Amino acid sequence: MADNEGNIEADNFALDVKAKSEAFYLKGLQNADWGVKSRMSRIFNRKSGRAVMLAFDHGYIMGPTRGLERMDLSIVPLIKYADCVMCTRGALRTIVPPECGKPVALRWSAGSTVLTELNDECLIDIEDAVKLDACALAPMVAIGGAFEAKTIQNLAKTADMTAKYGIPTLGVTAVGKELGRDARYLGLACRVITENGATFVKTYYCDEGFEKVVAACPVPIVIAGGKKLPEAEALELAYKAVNDGAAGVDMGRNIFQSECPEAMIQAVRAVVHENASPKDAFEMFNDLQHEIKKL
Ligand code: R5P
Repeated sequence: MADNEGNIEADNFALDVKAKSEAFYLKGLQNADWGVKSRMSRIFNRKSGRAVMLAFDHGYIMGPTRGLERMDLSIVPLIKYADCVMCTRGALRTIVPPECGKPVALRWSAGSTVLTELNDECLIDIEDAVKLDACALAPMVAIGGAFEAKTIQNLAKTADMTAKYGIPTLGVTAVGKELGRDARYLGLACRVITENGATFVKTYYCDEGFEKVVAACPVPIVIAGGKKLPEAEALELAYKAVNDGAAGVDMGRNIFQSECPEAMIQAVRAVVHENASPKDAFEMFNDLQHEIKKL
């Protein structure tokens, strides 16, 4: 047991070296807690400052979505290429190997499906998120929708709960027929989500004015891919989004519904982390696809 006898005296105080005080590399998070920063650093690449999140939480409202019928077969082989997996706790526990080492963003609100009215959601218990080693909790927020107040309350409660454990909150811009997709709407939604406590925001890309959506959002934004597009267009969407300031993608259908998901996720990575042009990334997709299909 340590005691005071016989200890060598401390003398290495480096008095001529100033203590480091570095700014955190992600926008708006300088004052975040250590746990939040540590978890964000597991999601967002330190060098590019961006992330490729693989989203496959669609089943929680859509059931066995195309490409997700057998997540053990379609999703598991893609996990190694993702910086983070975004899914429900049900998918996590049933198909994601705990030893994969990837940070997890958990879908953290639920309550309705495409068969009824979307976004009438409540929250799940924080203790399960801690048990699952979550790196972010993601509630849906339906700004301008019938459940606006309820979903903003869900976001605020998530931010309060996660703050106790140093877990980031990912505010998710809801989908819904009545909800907008232009820069004015997305700018308002992202800003409201941030001001109510989100650590980062997931939203949609819009062709006009997305750079303003990003500029007016004080924390990092990742974009959802939306409905399946031809691969070249999806890569262009990712390129335009990061070029306009997005900190990456949280992409689902445009990866797992691709002709060759394994090639697509690698091409998306090239765009997000290496600024590959859409043309180069599409060539990469085609080359990889040929290689993979030959095997
Ligand atoms: C939306 O909130 C969904 O739960 C998905 O996670 C999200 O839309 C990303 O997937 P996709 O790229 O297919 O739109």
